[in-house]
Amino acid sequence: MVKKAVLPVAGFGSRMLPASKSIPKEMMPIVDRPVIEYVVKEAVRAGIKDIILVSHSAKTAIEDYFDAQFELEHQLEAKGKHALLDEVRDILPDDVNVISVRQHQALGLGHAVACAAPIVGDEPFAVLLPDVLVDCDGEQEDLGVMVEKYLVSGTAQVMVEKVLAERVDQYGIVAFKGEAPAPGGSAPMTAIVEKPAVEDAPSCLSVVGRYVLPAEIMGILAETPPGAGNEIQLTDAIATLMERVSVEAYAMRGRTFDCGNKAGYLQAILHYASRHAELGAQARDMMAAELCEAGPSSKLKERSKAAE
Ligand code: G1P
Repeated sequence: MVKKAVLPVAGFGSRMLPASKSIPKEMMPIVDRPVIEYVVKEAVRAGIKDIILVSHSAKTAIEDYFDAQFELEHQLEAKGKHALLDEVRDILPDDVNVISVRQHQALGLGHAVACAAPIVGDEPFAVLLPDVLVDCDGEQEDLGVMVEKYLVSGTAQVMVEKVLAERVDQYGIVAFKGEAPAPGGSAPMTAIVEKPAVEDAPSCLSVVGRYVLPAEIMGILAETPPGAGNEIQLTDAIATLMERVSVEAYAMRGRTFDCGNKAGYLQAILHYASRHAELGAQARDMMAAELCEAGPSSKLKERSKAAE
């Protein structure tokens, strides 16, 4: 069973400054819920029961969000605001635990994951990078499929998607012997490398921020030296794991939003707002009205010209 998930949330979020100066970037709202809630709920829907936050002293707002807020709840109750009270109380099911450990030094993603080793113990676990939102539009979710594949084959799963060739130096990049797997499928990788130079990249398939890994990776991480950016890289530990056992890349079906940068965050807001149960119709009207008023961007104009 894969019951534990590690979410590294200690990073400062410099790409989201100035907003992230005093609010953890994971607490920034997508409509009415913080980014982190979308990620934690994705894990819960995949069967995860223990959410392990690898955090920092400046980011206690994340733990507080998943804790009870007695004073607020008392006030809502006294004012008879029961629907709101239920919403505040029922963020996660009762059988889900949110556990927090600290990353005392910013030594990289691999180091952050290794900080969770005492809680992960000897069980397989998922890793979800909290900047990345994945929307599968009502279809079976990618993380759930990865967990199922792990349970059937016992083979580690690393989620990948295509990126533009000029952006490969911003991601972990993977390679295969033959064809890359079709969306929803997995195939054994032959290589994985962190942020390669554009001319050295083995493919354009990037690691997206969802992993299902065996506990063995923790021992490997403890011995992994700093790599790209002088940080201990999860990618390098996976490359070592691949020398011992098969590791598969899972080609995602859904769509990703990188909320760790301003443009990706904005896109996520538009996407989730337009699909929001209560506000979706209103949001779509507002977007259309704004577009009419501001006029299409030069890119949109070019596209409609080309279509004529
Ligand atoms: C991390 C991983 C990288 C992955 C990326 C996905 O990089 O190290 O392999 O492709 O997340 O978002 P970061 O964005 O933290 O530099």
